[in-house]
Amino acid sequence: MPSIAQPDAVHIRLMTAPLNVVILAAGKGTRMKSDLPKVLHPLAGKPLLAHVLAAADSLSPERICVVYGHGGEALPQAIGRPDLAWAKQEPQLGTGHAVQQAVPHLNPDALCLILYGDVPLTRPETLQEMTLIAREGVIALLTVRLANPAGYGRIVRNARGQVERIVEHKDASPEELAIDEVNTGILCLPAGKLAGWLSRLTNQNAQGEYYLTDVIGMAAAEGEKVIPCHPAAEWEVLGINSRQQLAELERTHQRNIADALMVRGVTLIDPARIDVRGSLECGKDVLIDVNCVFEGRVVLGDGVKVGANCVLKNVTIAEGGDIRPFCHLEGASIGARAQIGPYSRLRPGTELAEETHIGNFVEIKNSQVGFNSKINHLSYVGDATVGRKVNIGAGTITCNYDGANKFRTVIEDNAFIGSDTQLVAPVTVGEGATLGAGTTLTKDAPAGQLTMSRARQLSLPGWQRPTKSGKGKG
Ligand code: UD1
Ligand code: CA
Repeated sequence: MPSIAQPDAVHIRLMTAPLNVVILAAGKGTRMKSDLPKVLHPLAGKPLLAHVLAAADSLSPERICVVYGHGGEALPQAIGRPDLAWAKQEPQLGTGHAVQQAVPHLNPDALCLILYGDVPLTRPETLQEMTLIAREGVIALLTVRLANPAGYGRIVRNARGQVERIVEHKDASPEELAIDEVNTGILCLPAGKLAGWLSRLTNQNAQGEYYLTDVIGMAAAEGEKVIPCHPAAEWEVLGINSRQQLAELERTHQRNIADALMVRGVTLIDPARIDVRGSLECGKDVLIDVNCVFEGRVVLGDGVKVGANCVLKNVTIAEGGDIRPFCHLEGASIGARAQIGPYSRLRPGTELAEETHIGNFVEIKNSQVGFNSKINHLSYVGDATVGRKVNIGAGTITCNYDGANKFRTVIEDNAFIGSDTQLVAPVTVGEGATLGAGTTLTKDAPAGQLTMSRARQLSLPGWQRPTKSGKGKG
């Protein structure tokens, strides 16, 4: 009995069909007024398209095809993902024409989800729900009601409330313009059927374009069910066309991140003044003051405080770390209960042990600093290994670079480095050694001794300051 068996077979095939994702990204983005392709503009430090790709990846699709065109090869090059299929659309004749370019890359037996490179914040949960609905053998269409639907395609429903077609703003009658349910453009449907409908599109409309939206009317006319899905929040479906919209969505996104941090127990002095451009993991009772920027992967342990106006990139701070205002920390790992700043700069390769103190105008690069050592003022420590309980005085400089090569400085436990000292690497300061202030150290300083290189101080009794001779004017 094929008439009964067949729908079941189709249904079962869809339930287990692979997922293919098409991302439209060929548009010009004229209003950005930029040389950079629109979808490469960053949101939270990451290109718009990378956000969409991350959402797509989270659905474990069999294939992802990006339709590109405007901006040329700059886009695939910048994204640099050989696992993606790239379909060039040239010229750009509309959204339906764009998806047609992807068809040769699609598995006809797959379920196809259509996304947009300039709509960056759709939650994976929303997309997952759409794919589950489409697996029931219907078309899942993401729609939203807007207070101001101007410019969008409107969702036209029949007398029974079923979706019948989509009419573009420029083609709509006055009655249709009054509809406030709009098309987000995101939809999920079987790839094989999509290809059939796309092949029958025409451009007989106000814009002379091949509209993807016409597929909905064709499907409904053939008796297919179109099921509208809705995002949990409007920002999920907002697209970027201008720098104002990009800036607004950035604020929305950052506010969402701030809310999530607070829900997890982080104190933010002002949730409107934090920027996370990567991942920020926080322990319990972390406090973050205003105007801090977090980039890459940042991990803050229990009780860490970050003072105002700090920039942290790829940094790990263990419990109780106290980062005072105006610090720039990158590629550093900071031990428990360390005190950093104000005005400290830690560069990549800095490893500070527990209870270290790093003060104002101190720069550290590619160095290990041991337990409870202190570098409190105006110093440069680079390519150095500093032991435990070392005290480095103000104005100390490791001269690690001879113009061609870099050398290490080793300062052993309990050493005391007097102020205004230069350590010309390679050089070692032994355990418990003291360097007199102003020393230029060019040879190793023995453990336990005082070493200094400055000239002996002398005073001349009876010396007179010169006086003016009185002739003429000086
Ligand atoms: C489209 C929808 C509209 C919906 C709106 C949501 C159509 C016909 N209309 O309208 O119903 O309310 O999105 O924002 O689909 N693109 C290409 N190649 C093209 C044309 C567009 O890749 O030839 C890409 C653009 O880069 C953009 C997206 O498709 O990311 C949407 O294109 P756009 O021209 O902005 O469509 P709208 O007119 O806004
Ligand atoms: Ca648009």
